[in-house]
Amino acid sequence: MRKVVVTGLGLVTPLGIGVRRTWRRLLDRQCGIISIKDRSSEFAVLPSQVAAVVPEGKKENGMWSAKDWLSPGDERKMALFAQYAMVASEEALDDAGWAPKKEDDLEATGVYIGSGIGSLDDVYNTTVAYEKGGYKKVSPLFLPRLLINLAAGHVSMRYGFKGPNHAATTACTTGAHSIGDATRLIQFGDADVMIAGGAESCIHPLAISGFARARSLATSWNDAPSEASRPFDRDRAGFVIGEGAGVVVLEELEHAKSRGAKIYAEVAGYGLSSDAYHMTAPRADGHGPFLAMKHALRHASLSPSSVDYINAHATSTPLGDAAENRAIKDLLLGEGGKTRASEVNISSTKGAIGHLLGAAGSVEAIFTILALHDNTLPPTLNLCNPGDPAEDFNCNYVANTAQQKDVKVALSNSFGFGGTNASLCFSKM
Ligand SMILES: *[C@@H]1O[C@H](CO)[C@@H](O)[C@H](O)[C@H]1NC(C)=O
Ligand SMILES: *[C@@H]1O[C@H](CO)[C@@H](O)[C@H](O)[C@H]1NC(C)=O
Ligand SMILES: *[C@@H]1O[C@H](CO)[C@@H](O)[C@H](O)[C@H]1NC(C)=O
Repeated sequence: MRKVVVTGLGLVTPLGIGVRRTWRRLLDRQCGIISIKDRSSEFAVLPSQVAAVVPEGKKENGMWSAKDWLSPGDERKMALFAQYAMVASEEALDDAGWAPKKEDDLEATGVYIGSGIGSLDDVYNTTVAYEKGGYKKVSPLFLPRLLINLAAGHVSMRYGFKGPNHAATTACTTGAHSIGDATRLIQFGDADVMIAGGAESCIHPLAISGFARARSLATSWNDAPSEASRPFDRDRAGFVIGEGAGVVVLEELEHAKSRGAKIYAEVAGYGLSSDAYHMTAPRADGHGPFLAMKHALRHASLSPSSVDYINAHATSTPLGDAAENRAIKDLLLGEGGKTRASEVNISSTKGAIGHLLGAAGSVEAIFTILALHDNTLPPTLNLCNPGDPAEDFNCNYVANTAQQKDVKVALSNSFGFGGTNASLCFSKM
């Protein structure tokens, strides 16, 4: 099997634009969750009035203003999720130093970027306009802005990449599936280089209404937004909706070596599974995530004892965090595993950036890669009291402060509505 490595990273997150800025602020215990109550009267009546928003402002301050990052034409053609994907892709490609011009290289480079929901804003506005004014009110750009695979489409058009052009939409597992599937495309020889990740931007009253109706959101911290997302904490009570994009450049090992590329990590394994249980609720025993992690380690030919760090999916919901904790402990303290729970290092970066839905898996994969690269475990914010004793939260959850640790092998977990679970295994080269 061909080996696949990560050679470039790009981020647009609630902590800012750019990998270095986001990572520095994450380690510095900053939180990107704010109140959105004053955005409009629709937001002000929702049960959850907090969100992890990409900060608006000047480019030189690492903030978002579409006109600083995109031409007016591109801004018009692309919905916000695709704009974020484009900016993250640009950073990842610059970071990788991959700017091919030769036909062979362009044909060997592909794009795999998904989104969980896509542009709800466009659907909503167009539906309302159509209801009032009919056919003439529908923009010719409506469908190209709406379609989820257009993020990948725009990236391939801008750079002339002629390899695979693909998009997954598997709810909150999208970003992880994109990186995992793109890795497989390189292993199988469909491409030598893949630009892969997820993007999301749907902080819309309609989306928040839907998640609130499904009882998924944190609703008790509307006046203390930075405390709302508290993975593994006793008082956790739902996730916080977020937006952004994470994109990596994946490359076949020999290809990366031959051009002297900087290598962050190897994508050593990728596991997929299904809860086969419920639309939105996890199985309490965490059997789905257990299988996903187990398969990722099997592909990597690594034992559970070799895992130094897990970036958990843990969204700050009572059931989800407990089920994942159970799955991690079953695997890492089971056969071929570690001897004590205190040796299991887990953190959830959602305390700082909320839940980026379709972008979560790829943004968190980048945090996992940086943990390996910098030997630093990013903290779980707002973890004041680990879940109640019955839940058995006795691992190291990197509460509130980053930790220096030698990390050689790390897992990044992502789970989504529909019962889909995925785990990526990264290792140092
Ligand atoms: C949808 O309409 C709102 C309200 O007029 C506006 O602020 C927003 O920019 C529109 N979004 C899109 C994608 O057209
Ligand atoms: C973290 O991981 C290392 C390496 O596996 C382990 O030695 C350590 O005990 C773990 N836990 C803590 C709290 O450092
Ligand atoms: C696996 O996927 C399901 C999909 O609904 C998700 O809700 C759940 O959190 C995941 N399983 C567990 C036990 O975490």
